[in-house]
Amino acid sequence: MNSKLIAPSVLAADFANLQRDIEMVNTSDADWFHIDIMDGVFVPNISFGMPVLDAISKHAKKTIDVHLMIVDPDRYIKTFADLGSNILTVHYEACTHLHRTLQAIKAHGMKAGVALNPHTNINVLEDTINDIDLVCLMSVNPGFGGQSFIENTYNKVKQLKELITKKGASTKIEIDGGVTNKNAKQLVDAGADVLVAGSYVFKSENQIETIKDLKALANS
Ligand code: DX5
Ligand code: ZN
Repeated sequence: MNSKLIAPSVLAADFANLQRDIEMVNTSDADWFHIDIMDGVFVPNISFGMPVLDAISKHAKKTIDVHLMIVDPDRYIKTFADLGSNILTVHYEACTHLHRTLQAIKAHGMKAGVALNPHTNINVLEDTINDIDLVCLMSVNPGFGGQSFIENTYNKVKQLKELITKKGASTKIEIDGGVTNKNAKQLVDAGADVLVAGSYVFKSENQIETIKDLKALANS
């Protein structure tokens, strides 16, 4: 069985000590860096953009998983590839031609991800699941870190897992928002492969230990 992955969300890091926090993730049991890009249009918040990602890339020694919460993401696919993104996730709700966008992401050498808002039904991915490397299920409404986990996510993980199995796809399931030690085990039991955790990791006293414990829980 593949091991379950932990992806700390840099949105919750201390930006005045970003290099320190990147090095913490490098030396921890975490698997990926989760990078949240918000444009103030698709979501009601602006996070950070290209210069910050460029700085992160220079120090990050693990997979860079970029979550674009922006309208019309096709405009920036090449830019994010050039900045060192390994996985580029776009929102289903932000793409008019999702299949074309997925092809473009792959043509730029990245893995292609699709994020679904809490209100978006899994069945919208019926015809694209075989083209998707990662589905990011939003377990909060996107835009902010530190929100409470939406309980209906467990049902959605199960439905998505069924769809992946039915279609013979190898898509990974990522959960994003409100992940803690209280829901991690239940999420992986339902079928999750990757757990994003922002506040739970960065606001904890011993971040290395928190990541270690979360990873152990996810793989127990
Ligand atoms: C929300 C972001 C999440 C967020 C998770 O829009 O996509 O990645 O940083 O933060 P926590 O773990 O604090 O909910
Ligand atoms: Zn995210």
